[in-house]
Amino acid sequence: MKAWNRALLLKLIWNLLTEHSLWVQWCKQHLIRKHSFWNLPTTGSISWAWRQILHLRNIALCHLVYICGREDKFSLWHDPWFHGRSISTVYGHRVINDSGIADSVRVQAVIANDHWCWLATSPDLIEIQYRVQDIPISTSTDRIFWGSVGQPFLTKKAWELVRESAPPVRWVNLVWHSSRISKHAFCLWLAILGAHRTRDKLLTLGLIHSACCLFNCGENESEHHLFFECPYTRQIWSMVLSKCNIRRSVLTWPQEIQWMTDHTRGNKFPKVLRKLALAATVYHVWMERNRRAFKNSFLPPTAIVFKIQCDVASKMVGKEINLDRLDEHYHSLGISWGITGTV
Ligand SMILES: *[C@@H]1O[C@H](CO)[C@@H](O)[C@H](O)[C@H]1NC(C)=O
Ligand SMILES: *[C@@H]1O[C@H](CO)[C@@H](O)[C@H](O)[C@H]1NC(C)=O
Repeated sequence: MKAWNRALLLKLIWNLLTEHSLWVQWCKQHLIRKHSFWNLPTTGSISWAWRQILHLRNIALCHLVYICGREDKFSLWHDPWFHGRSISTVYGHRVINDSGIADSVRVQAVIANDHWCWLATSPDLIEIQYRVQDIPISTSTDRIFWGSVGQPFLTKKAWELVRESAPPVRWVNLVWHSSRISKHAFCLWLAILGAHRTRDKLLTLGLIHSACCLFNCGENESEHHLFFECPYTRQIWSMVLSKCNIRRSVLTWPQEIQWMTDHTRGNKFPKVLRKLALAATVYHVWMERNRRAFKNSFLPPTAIVFKIQCDVASKMVGKEINLDRLDEHYHSLGISWGITGTV
């Protein structure tokens, strides 16, 4: 599709989210109905144009900025106010059921006195309560912007954006392999796309006043800094690498992705372990960074490595690998990760 067409379709998404025109009302009544625009499937008997619009949702998500204020416009579970994603995409639909909070509830339900107040009734909800801490709550209305706070959608800006063609995706199997842990895979995927709302982006969006890294290293936080230029996270990744029997120094983020893509092909035990280890590291670094934003302390690298090890080991347990019968390399990996021989 031509870039200009796609920019115009992005404009329709923008209208759908922000306007009440006849076309928007018609779409809501006939195409969206009781569902959320963000969850509609792209398959089934839908028109070509509507399908193209749905396909552009992910591009739109990278640029939409939802600001939660004093209204009840945004769906708690299905609108992408949560670091550019919806809670149901990040945590899956089970989190809704586990929470006991109705599917139709609005974001207001978890705000009290201008503070986030999720009930701590499940590990996911406790985690969400951490992760929402750096999402500001506005004292005005619920609003949606494009690109940065205060900016409306401009077709020309969108056109410039979609004109840059996407590079081929070589790392798909690094992220979406069959043994993945879904929360970790999602977090890694965002990190590879550069789509985490790191502090440098929050600063550009006008949401915070300093991009300073939360691990006190004195540098500004960006995706590359977090993975793994920061001395704190670098130490964690370096320990994880040696647990994987990989003897090399830590590379830059794009080089790490490249290296891991090249050295994790297939489903052999050491390869799967590497993939799980990378995703778990990115996930736990990101979680620790969020905890740091909320609490005033952070755990020592060894404690993070321990969390990574537990997650990876619990995923590998029960897989049919006979660590005792296989070679020494497998055996030493099993020992490092606390995975004992299975059937
Ligand atoms: C939530 O899960 C329980 C137990 O698995 C099930 O009985 C119930 O119907 C579910 N509720 C919803 C709203 O899906
Ligand atoms: C961090 O970012 C700010 C604002 O862009 C800049 O002024 C400052 O020099 C940066 N600090 C470092 C250590 O790069």
